[in-house]
Amino acid sequence: GHQRVSLVTCTAPVNIAVIKYWGKRDEDLILPVNASLSVTLHQDQLKTTTTVACSRSFQRDRIWLNGREEDISHPRLQSCLQEIRRLARKRRSAGDHSPDISSMSHKLHVCSVNNFPTAAGLASSAAGYACLVYALARLFGVEGELSSIARQGSGSACRSLYGGFVQWNLGERPDGTDSLAEQVAPESSWPELRVLILVVSAEQKSVGSTSGMHTSVETSQLLKHRADAVVPGRMEQMRRAIRQRDFQTFGELTMKDSNQFHAVCLDTYPPIFYLNHVSQQIITLVHHYNQHHGETKVAYTFDAGPNAVIYTLQEHLPEFLQLLRLVFPSEVPEEEFVRGLPVSPAELS
Ligand code: PMV
Repeated sequence: GHQRVSLVTCTAPVNIAVIKYWGKRDEDLILPVNASLSVTLHQDQLKTTTTVACSRSFQRDRIWLNGREEDISHPRLQSCLQEIRRLARKRRSAGDHSPDISSMSHKLHVCSVNNFPTAAGLASSAAGYACLVYALARLFGVEGELSSIARQGSGSACRSLYGGFVQWNLGERPDGTDSLAEQVAPESSWPELRVLILVVSAEQKSVGSTSGMHTSVETSQLLKHRADAVVPGRMEQMRRAIRQRDFQTFGELTMKDSNQFHAVCLDTYPPIFYLNHVSQQIITLVHHYNQHHGETKVAYTFDAGPNAVIYTLQEHLPEFLQLLRLVFPSEVPEEEFVRGLPVSPAELS
């Protein structure tokens, strides 16, 4: 017979860390070895759009990513689905006799699309899991803290549930209930800040973050040193730089932390290489540019792939874009090459 379909669509933006998360102390709950801090990009730029639907007429849970059906039994995905269904049941009042759409009598269909390359070190899993968890919460009427659920999909996803500048706390409880994301400052507190994504390669990354982190935790002594002696101080300095809109400190710490993360990758045995020669050219270019001006006007950061993310201030952007076009003449269409966030397309042409 005719069965009702309940449906919700949400979008979630990508976040780019300036203090990197790398390494888990608990691989099941996804608890990090160090705190991290990121900037969430604009909602209308790099984002995931997810529709979740549930109905009694669906035979089983299913998921489509960028139009292709994927395996719903993926353990991380299952953690998120189970957690949110559990919360939905918990929050349902005892006297509620309406059909429980979060119960297993109603199966879920999930459909998720990215407007940027998937798994190319562009934080696709962060936006994806944040979006999935948020959409399911809306569908089932679950309110409150969702970052600990998104975290169990992909660690960095917990930070995409908030806008602006966001930290993911290390936490100390073994059950992970205090390893949550929280906003450090809203985006509006630093309106001059700009982000550029330089797509060096849209190919899938060579080593996924899950296996990379695992090997790093097992083999890298630098990772231990970083977690114990470096990141706590940097988190403090970074929060202060953001609150004071001190780009010198913000930019310098961002570059040093990216470099230390890639040094940990090199210290991993066998070593992991995410940067390529174009990434290295960008690093050199940024340092030459800053040295020429005698101050840090531009900063780079790289995740688990060769693509560069550039942080700068609006006042420096036109000149730096001009320099980029000079150094990397357009084999690549310009709008593909440089995607400015939240820069309007007009500034890129
Ligand atoms: O959340 P994951 O498993 O995709 O790991 C992300 C790790 C980095 O992007 C390299 C760093 C970070 O903090 O986002």
